[in-house]
Amino acid sequence: MPGTILITGSNRGIGLEMTRQFADDGWQVLACCRDVPGAHELRALREKYAHVRLFQLDVTRYDQMTALSKALWDQPIDILVNNAGYYGPKGVAFGQVDVDEWRKVLESNTIAPYKMAETFARNVADSERRVMAVLSSKVGSIADNTSGGGYIYRTSKTAVNQVVKSLSIDLREQGVSVMALHPGWVKTQMGGPNALISVEESVAGLKKLLLGADLEHSGRFYNYDGSEIPW
Ligand SMILES: NC(=O)c1ccc[n+]([C@@H]2O[C@H](COP(=O)([O-])OP(=O)(O)OC[C@H]3O[C@@H](n4cnc5c(N)ncnc54)[C@H](OP(=O)(O)O)[C@@H]3O)[C@@H](O)[C@H]2O)c1
Repeated sequence: MPGTILITGSNRGIGLEMTRQFADDGWQVLACCRDVPGAHELRALREKYAHVRLFQLDVTRYDQMTALSKALWDQPIDILVNNAGYYGPKGVAFGQVDVDEWRKVLESNTIAPYKMAETFARNVADSERRVMAVLSSKVGSIADNTSGGGYIYRTSKTAVNQVVKSLSIDLREQGVSVMALHPGWVKTQMGGPNALISVEESVAGLKKLLLGADLEHSGRFYNYDGSEIPW
């Protein structure tokens, strides 16, 4: 077996396609999602590939995270992918921001990836590849912000980029590489039908980055095509 990858939010969109592509390459995939019984496409993958294992995980439920870490206590994790994400209300302009939604988005997009890192750092450090990644977004780049707005989602991704940077410094001694990844504008429920690329294309690019990652790439922000994005 080439290795073990843990993916959050693996029941649809980018997470589901990542599960499919890594499973197809023979990886053990620890596929996590909120509603395992309702995850029909993911369960179909489980039927096809014996090395796909399903786990219940709402990334904002730390009791579930702790239970999962106990279930995976002796399991080295080569690649940990914080993919689960929530956009929050769309088209919200200055003056219309719902702060309760903002807190919810920060909880899933910023705090949860940090908690995942804290919970599973030992498993990743015990593996061969020792890679962590967060699905961030180009809209979290301050340098790239020329259009304003998007207060809720933008700040959640900007903040998680800072989490990635600090993790890359704090976990370097253990040989763990930590990257922020932009998947492109992808045709998923979040990206919508007008998005520019398919999940297959996005994940093929992300997979290359994940498989090529080492400490030289740690603490950096990459587009799915391998180019670097300014913070
Ligand atoms: N699509 C794009 O164009 C794009 C661009 C830039 C960045 N991204 C980022 O890429 C990642 C994946 O996006 P996507 O396009 O695949 O989105 P998506 O189709 O909306 O899927 C989001 C996934 O996250 C899961 N999720 C949300 N909140 C969760 C929670 N609290 N606990 C566990 N799982 C949760 C969802 O599970 P449920 O089915 O249970 O809701 C679903 O599996 C996200 O982090 C997103 O911000 C996407």
